[in-house]
Amino acid sequence: MHPIVVGISGGSGAIYGVRILEVLQKLGIDTHLVITQHGLATLRYETDYTAKDLRKLATVTHPVRDIGAAIASGSFLTQGMIVAPCSVKTLSGIVNSYGDNLLIRAADVTLKEKRKLVLMVREVPLHLGHLRLLTAAAEIGATIFPPLPAFYAHPKTVEDIVAYSVGRVLDQFGIDTGIPRWTGQKKAEQSCADLQ
Ligand SMILES: Cc1cc2nc3c(=O)[nH]c(=O)nc-3n(C[C@H](O)[C@H](O)[C@H](O)COP(=O)(O)O)c2cc1C
Repeated sequence: MHPIVVGISGGSGAIYGVRILEVLQKLGIDTHLVITQHGLATLRYETDYTAKDLRKLATVTHPVRDIGAAIASGSFLTQGMIVAPCSVKTLSGIVNSYGDNLLIRAADVTLKEKRKLVLMVREVPLHLGHLRLLTAAAEIGATIFPPLPAFYAHPKTVEDIVAYSVGRVLDQFGIDTGIPRWTGQKKAEQSCADLQ
């Protein structure tokens, strides 16, 4: 099976990228990791993970300045790429094919090869410029996947919320991580019956 490329940029939520790497490692799926300078900064700020920890989780780690890395070329086969989290700056770089770092170049390659590119874009609130970038990204083939909680899954902890989004992102690649799934409205309807 071809590897999945994982990009971590400087949006809030570095933990999403970390958990994706952990899950894929456990499932024996190879990963190629690229993390931006600001991705490393938020990783340090928001989590107890270090760059060294990430290197252990990924099958291959590429320096963000290494524009000559395997994942910079479409001839290197992958299942696609997840950017988790995706900052607005990186979103803008991807939309405009501004490949001045390896993360953006790898995302651009993923799109030109018509492979799956999932962007866990994180910013609030969104101004019209952000919304236009998101539309443009969707138009050129990216899947926009903001890391938002699903309360119907009854999360108890932040970890539950993260695991759910990670599971739903990996659904995009046909990978089932065993997250709780909506199985129909009946139960919800029963519990609301006494309110009507
Ligand atoms: C703690 C922290 C949280 C941030 N959260 C976000 C965010 O959620 N979304 C965003 O677009 N930028 C966020 N930023 C700003 C980006 O890190 C900044 O725009 C950076 O230039 C992005 O660079 P990169 O895309 O190359 O990683 C955050 C910065 C810090 C320090």
